[in-house]
Amino acid sequence: MTESLSRRHFLSAAGAGAASVWIPRSTEVKGFTAAEMREQASGGRLAAGVSMWELDTPCLCVDLDALEGNLDRMQTTVARNGIASRPHAKTHKCPAIARMQLATGSVGICTAKISEAEVMFEHGIEQILMTTVNVTPPKIRRAMQLRKRCAGFIQAVDTAANARELSEAAKEAGVVADIVVDIDPGGHRTGITAGAPALELAKLVDTLPGLELKGMLCYDGGAQHVSGFAARKERALGSLEAAVGTKVQMERSGLDTGIFSGGGTGTYNIDHETPGLTDVQVGSYVFMDAQYLGIGGEENPEVYTDFQPALTVMTTVLNAQYEGRATTDAGAKANTINRPWPIVKGETGMSYTSGSDEFGSIRYEDNASRTYNVGDKLEVIVSHCDPVVNLYDQLYGIRGDTVEVVWPVAGRGKSI
Ligand SMILES: Cc1ncc(COP(=O)(O)O)c(C=O)c1O
Repeated sequence: MTESLSRRHFLSAAGAGAASVWIPRSTEVKGFTAAEMREQASGGRLAAGVSMWELDTPCLCVDLDALEGNLDRMQTTVARNGIASRPHAKTHKCPAIARMQLATGSVGICTAKISEAEVMFEHGIEQILMTTVNVTPPKIRRAMQLRKRCAGFIQAVDTAANARELSEAAKEAGVVADIVVDIDPGGHRTGITAGAPALELAKLVDTLPGLELKGMLCYDGGAQHVSGFAARKERALGSLEAAVGTKVQMERSGLDTGIFSGGGTGTYNIDHETPGLTDVQVGSYVFMDAQYLGIGGEENPEVYTDFQPALTVMTTVLNAQYEGRATTDAGAKANTINRPWPIVKGETGMSYTSGSDEFGSIRYEDNASRTYNVGDKLEVIVSHCDPVVNLYDQLYGIRGDTVEVVWPVAGRGKSI
């Protein structure tokens, strides 16, 4: 057996909760389609006591106890460390979860796209920091129109040319747009170089009509999944050092540095050591996924157990007639082809792959604790939560085994 597979068993057993499988025994179980569940929920008539195992598959489920525990853990930690959370809604794309985050103490939410920001605002969220720059005329116009309606909308900029475009658009729309300067932590994905270039841009934003400087952001995506707490800490604190220097220079120049946003799920308990950082843009912590489980934490060096895996795709076994394997109905279109592959919740002795469009593939080892039959339902912890959520119209909130709520993923497909 390969090393990676045995490691996955370990993750599964240590971090992924109890085994959870439904075996159909009664022909009386009727089951509900996604449309029926949606209709019930939108009419406020969600039948009491619908079991999660009655849901048709593939479907996306979130364990509400785990979700609430994750929200609590995040808030308790950042509050203790003297910073705030500004969770990234790109992960869940779900206004109901954004509202829970705000209700439990987050200072606002982030979005990656203007369309996500619009959806969140339409659902009553008013504190929105868009972390991606808008460079095309339609997006710039939309950003200004959103700012007109949403007093708490803040957008990012990382070039002087874009700052001038935003200024022109703001004047045209008759608004003052709140701006943060995005600073590159060294990965060169987004942002302007720290130091003199960032300072000059901040000064420009401060002087341009129609713009109001609110501070800065600096997000090191590469730091988040560094394996091992000590190595991750060194990387995260090191990569934001130059941004800290820039903040000091901005302050000396009398510029507004009220916001210094950065960090994510992998560094949420490290980022407060970056001097002046105000809030963490944490996303995945609400759901967790196989990618994050494997990085290890401060408490548990093997498995990242700070947050519980709350999100699963439920799938049904379609074929079990061949030795050593079973086929399910959740392949790439239900799970993506991100790696590591999904983990069968709570099981050991088996692997799951989702490389085939419509089919998931389970392979048993000799020591598999269970083999499946046609019609059995099981849950998998997804590889990477954000792109999987974007595949589903609705998210089932589960308490125990019961469906408590059906949340529309209102930001699904909002990738513009
Ligand atoms: C700009 C930005 N901030 C925050 C996050 C949240 O990261 P995580 O899901 O690791 O918490 C992301 C995720 O990709 C991001 O792109």
